[in-house]
Amino acid sequence: MALRQLVSRKSLGLGFGQLRGLQTFSLPDLPYDYGALEPVISGEIMQLHHQKHHQAYITNYNKALEQLQDAVGKGDSPAVVKLQSAIKFNGGGHINHSIFWKNLTPVREGGGDPPKGSLGWAIDTDFGSLETLVQKINSEGAALQGSGWVWLGLDKESKKLVVETTANQDPLITKGPHLVPLLGIDVWEHAYYLQYKNVRPDYLKNIWKVINWKYASEVYDKESE
Ligand SMILES: [Fe+2]
Repeated sequence: MALRQLVSRKSLGLGFGQLRGLQTFSLPDLPYDYGALEPVISGEIMQLHHQKHHQAYITNYNKALEQLQDAVGKGDSPAVVKLQSAIKFNGGGHINHSIFWKNLTPVREGGGDPPKGSLGWAIDTDFGSLETLVQKINSEGAALQGSGWVWLGLDKESKKLVVETTANQDPLITKGPHLVPLLGIDVWEHAYYLQYKNVRPDYLKNIWKVINWKYASEVYDKESE
């Protein structure tokens, strides 16, 4: 399929990322090496997670978008409606993982350094302390049944920070139109099973050592203006 798409792109004289005028998506580079988060997250997990899992969401998202374009062109409403779940799942997977990679950073580059500035103040105001927030995220992430994500978000309407969980690959926006993700933690088994032997609470306890609070603070500052 990938080869066929490549050939059809070339035969139509379109650049990469375009298929019959349709914007397609490609795997973003990680901002660090696969092994740079060790020992918290192994290089093996990071490589599989990025190259296999994230790539699969992108491949299937592009495929669903191409099918959607065809279905819309043909006025095939049942096909349009049928594609919505694949678009939500795979498009959500691409959105969520693109955020997740930026939410992590090696210890030597500030991973785990507590948030400063306005986000630090907002966490103290809305949750009491950073430790209380971390406990809340860890307990909600551990309690989430099946696969999903646990989020720290900003509600742009109430100007409050919120902790939410989403099932499967649902992005945070599915929990409310005013929610902006600052930090998303992937609690799918594929994020930790090789290293933490399926013990999700241990993975959640350790991941804070490589959380990029600087990135979350930058998003918070931009979105709370
Ligand atoms: Fe994942």
